[in-house]
Amino acid sequence: MSPKKSFHTSNPETDTAIDRTIPDFPAAQLSDEDRYFRAHKPPKYLDELSAEVSEFVEFHLKNSKKNIVLVTSGGTTVPLENNTVRFIDNFSAGTRGATSAEYFLENGYAVIFLHREFSLLPYSRHYSHTTNCFLDYMTEEDNKVQINRDFADEMLVVLRKYNAAKESNSLLLIPFTTVNQYLYTLKTISEILHRVDTRALFYLAAAVSDFFLPQSKMPQHKIQSQESGGKLIIDLEPVPKFLSRLVDNWAPAAMIVSFKLETDNTILIKKAKNALTRYQHQLVIGNLLQTRKKEVVFVTTDEPDQWIKLTDEEYKNKEEIEKIIIPAVIERHHKWIKQRNENKQK
Ligand code: PMT
Repeated sequence: MSPKKSFHTSNPETDTAIDRTIPDFPAAQLSDEDRYFRAHKPPKYLDELSAEVSEFVEFHLKNSKKNIVLVTSGGTTVPLENNTVRFIDNFSAGTRGATSAEYFLENGYAVIFLHREFSLLPYSRHYSHTTNCFLDYMTEEDNKVQINRDFADEMLVVLRKYNAAKESNSLLLIPFTTVNQYLYTLKTISEILHRVDTRALFYLAAAVSDFFLPQSKMPQHKIQSQESGGKLIIDLEPVPKFLSRLVDNWAPAAMIVSFKLETDNTILIKKAKNALTRYQHQLVIGNLLQTRKKEVVFVTTDEPDQWIKLTDEEYKNKEEIEKIIIPAVIERHHKWIKQRNENKQK
């Protein structure tokens, strides 16, 4: 028999009574995020994408025991028409995301690379989006196509890393184009990564649109200039801030790193701190558009701001700042895993 309890739940609480000074308890409201998903259709391919991500995650949970990072990369579009001729875009070539993904792979992580379709990809980024045509990397010798000797040594290094990622099934490429596709895909992947618990890491480098045109207001066909008197006035709605959903519900045990992009250096740190307070996640990496390849700042709630900078010499020699950023992020992720596991045992 259990020891005698000093309370009974069936006893009424006689000291409470009607109190008209307390305002009525409002009916539960839908959050902006829930309203968004109710009012917007998911992309048709979402189930297929979800199966692919699940398979990748299960593979690593069972076989490799690698930590898994979701890297988001590139800008989202906001279509203005259903049959889209015009859209609003967000700035990002995908350099930060694609470069970071390579360093995560080199440091033993499995990477889900959620990227704007046709933006830069890990490994191929070295040869795409350059002023060289891809044929410039080749020459003809003895009636055969060969790799141009000027590029061959460097290409061999990249090729080996690419093959290693492929052979170990450590890189999964998942595309998006519109902000709606991005949000649904982020939610779906996050919920799958819930299974990975603390070993999941979110590295949100994509430039996500802050404004969008709801599906209910989107014309089906190309906007006609004659019908609007030659002017185009667009009334955009704010995109709900999904980061709090990610932190609280979709993947609460994961470590979350977001980026803050500004062009005015006097507000960068303040905006990064605001993001931390608002979303309660672990790390904001601040960067300025003008200097993003040379310096970034790590902003957290419990440590002084930490700048990571390349020297002019390193920058001239084409060193990549992600080579320093990623080990620093991984170190924090390892600490996060350790702390959370210790807390669980208490
Ligand atoms: O690709 P590159 O040319 O190399 O450029 C890299 C970069 C400058 C784009 C990158 O380093 C960067 O700073 N990315 C984030 C840019 C940004 O626009 O952040 P934001 O202020 O929109 O959003 C901040 C964070 O909140 C983001 O990590 C985003 O995932 C998240 N967010 C944003 C909007 C939204 N509705 N929900 C969100 O959760």
